[in-house]
Amino acid sequence: MAAIELRDVVKTFPDGTSALDGVSLNVADGEFMVLVGPSGCGKSTILRVVAGLEEMTSGEVLIGGKVANGLPPNERNVAMAFQTYSLYPQLTVYENIAFPLRVSKSFSKREIDQIVRDASRTLGLDDVLQTKPGVLSGGQRQRVAMGRAMVRDPQALLLDEPLSNLDARLRQELRAEIAWLQRCLGTTTLYVTHDQTEAMALGDRVVVLEQGRVQQIATPRDLYRHPANLFVADFIGSPPMEFLPVTVTGDVVELSFAWVRISPQKAARVHGREQFIAGLRPERVRLEDLVGTDHQYARIPRDVPPGVPDYLIRYEKELVGGEINTPLNSRSDYNRRFLERDQEDRYVNSRSLQLFDPATGENLTRDVD
Ligand SMILES: Nc1ncnc2c1ncn2[C@@H]1O[C@H](COP(=O)(O)OP(=O)(O)O)[C@@H](O)[C@H]1O
Ligand SMILES: [Mg+2]
Repeated sequence: MAAIELRDVVKTFPDGTSALDGVSLNVADGEFMVLVGPSGCGKSTILRVVAGLEEMTSGEVLIGGKVANGLPPNERNVAMAFQTYSLYPQLTVYENIAFPLRVSKSFSKREIDQIVRDASRTLGLDDVLQTKPGVLSGGQRQRVAMGRAMVRDPQALLLDEPLSNLDARLRQELRAEIAWLQRCLGTTTLYVTHDQTEAMALGDRVVVLEQGRVQQIATPRDLYRHPANLFVADFIGSPPMEFLPVTVTGDVVELSFAWVRISPQKAARVHGREQFIAGLRPERVRLEDLVGTDHQYARIPRDVPPGVPDYLIRYEKELVGGEINTPLNSRSDYNRRFLERDQEDRYVNSRSLQLFDPATGENLTRDVD
């Protein structure tokens, strides 16, 4: 097992496509690191660069503290698994797991047997070793694939959207299985997904990527609570964060429907400017009446028309470009429950408001309440 490090990795394809635009990240020894971002943001390219399947334009990749640039894939000792598990259907589970060992030709028959049996014990596959993959459950097949990746005792495991072709239920089941396996094996893992829910469920830490650039590297909890910018805030969380343009004067935030005071620390971060985009997690909107005299809570008017309220929708992002288009009332079950309890007041606590720079998208209040 080994740590992995990328230092300022740039990858531009011959046709001019910029896939990675200065990516730096560290995966600690034994860590489960998830790369997440929309399709085309460079996730697979990162894995391929680490595996040595793709040459980078500039930068460095270190595996176990040693520069791996220029090393062919077979000298890097990292195991890569792709979207489809591609087990050999005609081979038994035993032979599927043994396959990489036989191919390498550096193990005796006895050694191979020992390694396969060790792996099968760890993975709970003892009972199905002589079975063919076709009759196994999805979870068992996944274990076989992991076993096959693991037997050569790789320094790291690289997984590229391993669950993306499966139905939602199986995906959930296997997600739990992968997390469990990784903890058992303790192998440094770099796991790619475009699904933020999966990333949040699996990662010790998560790298959020967009257009070949790292947007933020943090624990799931920190990504959710302290998003670095509008992109991360919008991408992470379900239902997603709501965004509304606001004016700030001193410590008073003027929302379109109410005003609210923010803490002195927060006010200091946005001092000297007026226009911001406020971000609000829908689940932080409260039904109970918590309003004190300090104006820390803003009341959301009760007569919100069901469906699409005027003041919380269609901020066509004149300020930032791109699109923010997030009606508060139509998003989730949570909000539906909200509407059913329409007679109660709702409040926004200013502690849960984050203020973003409309020009750069940066979260100016990332680490203050
Ligand atoms: N061989 C290639 N030649 C040119 N462009 C490529 C090649 N492979 C990938 N790309 C481009 O590089 C970008 C990143 O691709 P990729 O790493 O596969 O994204 P992801 O895995 O996040 O969906 C995309 O714009 C993709 O079209
Ligand atoms: Mg990909």
